Amino acid sequence: MPGSRLGSVLLLAAISTAKYIVPGGRWHDTEGNLINAHAGGITVVDSKFWWFGEYKVEGQEEGGGVSVYSSEDLATWTSHGFALEAIEGHPYIAPNHIIQRPKVVYSEETGKYNMWWHADNSTYGWLLQGLATSDKIQGPYTFVSATSPLGNWSQDFGIFTDYKDGKSYSLYSNGDRREGRDVYLTSYNSTLTGLDKVIHRFDKYDLEAPTIIQTENSYYALMSHKTGYRPNNVVAFRADSLSGPWSQPFIVSPLNTRTYNSQSGFSLRISGTKKMTYLYIGDQWDSNSLWESRYIWLPIEIDDNKRSLSVQWHDVYDLDVKSGQVTPISGKTYYASDAQVSGNAFKQEANFASSNLIVTGIYGNDSTVSFSGVQGTGKPQWVSFYYQNTDDMGFGDQPGGTPDRIGGTWQLRRISWVRVNGGEKVESLYQRDTHKGIILSTPLLLNLKEGSENTITVGGLHNGFDVKGADLDRIVVYPPEK
Ligand SMILES: *[C@@H]1O[C@H](CO)[C@@H](O)[C@H](O)[C@H]1NC(C)=O
Ligand SMILES: *[C@@H]1O[C@H](CO)[C@@H](O)[C@H](O)[C@H]1NC(C)=O
Ligand SMILES: *[C@@H]1O[C@H](CO)[C@@H](O)[C@H](O)[C@H]1NC(C)=O
Ligand SMILES: *[C@@H]1O[C@H](CO)[C@@H](O)[C@H](O)[C@H]1NC(C)=O
Repeated sequence: MPGSRLGSVLLLAAISTAKYIVPGGRWHDTEGNLINAHAGGITVVDSKFWWFGEYKVEGQEEGGGVSVYSSEDLATWTSHGFALEAIEGHPYIAPNHIIQRPKVVYSEETGKYNMWWHADNSTYGWLLQGLATSDKIQGPYTFVSATSPLGNWSQDFGIFTDYKDGKSYSLYSNGDRREGRDVYLTSYNSTLTGLDKVIHRFDKYDLEAPTIIQTENSYYALMSHKTGYRPNNVVAFRADSLSGPWSQPFIVSPLNTRTYNSQSGFSLRISGTKKMTYLYIGDQWDSNSLWESRYIWLPIEIDDNKRSLSVQWHDVYDLDVKSGQVTPISGKTYYASDAQVSGNAFKQEANFASSNLIVTGIYGNDSTVSFSGVQGTGKPQWVSFYYQNTDDMGFGDQPGGTPDRIGGTWQLRRISWVRVNGGEKVESLYQRDTHKGIILSTPLLLNLKEGSENTITVGGLHNGFDVKGADLDRIVVYPPEK
């Protein structure tokens, strides 16, 4: 049964989670470095999670190789360096190539781990699938080939393994050309080193970034629209069987949140002792600085009777991978309507905001907003900033689109500075664009002193274009991790 060890996440080693999952936060590994594994996939081996993703740094946004991390709780991650390194001058995995959306599956038949990814040149002219193998899950992986799946094109890439029979499938969009614009679901042969046959084609929906979630009775295929690195409304299709018939696509999150500013890419089924939990593993891309992109992981609610699925937002939550339970953490809210403004910042009527008022005009160092009387514990605490940033001009799900007609350039995020108690330390808060009237949140880990005398001040930092901060509705201060 190929790949059966990896089919589902069962009876994981008991460790009670002390670390929260904070979508959109800066996630650090156990050595204190930022986790650098974009558009990733997670493989489960002997109760351990292995996260493979694209390594991106400033100046090497593509072709940087594949990094790998391991965890027992999905929150505490240990780096194992590169699973696949780019090789200067290599015909397929040189640093000037595209090495995207890596996924790893184990073949019982060969006893090897197979890494597959979208292999391309920098102008997306090849549209191939790369294969590298290793005897060990963490690698290093050795390049084997880069091929066209059954002779066709392949762009955004995913792998799905059916937990019932252990069979694995390749999922890929076939690019943006007119003859493409489909998503394929194709079975692997038993060594997981080649493809067998097309099981289904999602014909002409023009979607990408596919992943499949399996419940006891259904398969749900999630995909995003094609708006480059701008997020859009991810959709899902449902079917009883992988070969279909598949349902019409439907939107999986509140409209105009654009899937909480994220793109789909992977999902995980966690079969806990108390609950089955489905996890959405998405990317919050930052096209103005791709290496600053973050991860949006959220629980997915599925009701098979209603044939519905929705991705649920939580600022901060605890996921117990053993029981499968998700516990949202509650925090204390401080409203911008009660905050002090300085300079040209002011409170403006906004019927979609918490108190019908939102603070706008936050700019540079002189036009700021301060929340005072904030309760702290003396330990690092996550603070979520609820904001609106309308720079996008309200783009939709269509490919192309025109940039901000005021500035003429996509300004996909503003950056605010945040200071605690007037201190020297300046935290940078990245605030992705939103639709008008849509309030989303983004978190920072802050050090508040013990007691209720803390002041959190927010101003504007340079985002490459201007020093505007996003409009602020409220902040929520969460208790520290245990
Ligand atoms: C990528 O490959 C295509 C197809 O072979 C080719 O036309 C294009 O010039 C290549 N791009 C680069 C940057 O080499
Ligand atoms: C290859 O792509 C063409 C054009 O979309 C399609 O007609 C054909 O069925 C595909 N074949 C396979 C095996 O994917
Ligand atoms: C699977 O396909 C690959 C690539 O074509 C081939 O090398 C391998 O032998 C195949 N495995 C089986 C079991 O047919
Ligand atoms: C605001 O102050 C910071 C230092 O805290 C400085 O780096 C930055 O240039 C200032 N920005 C403006 C617009 O004056």
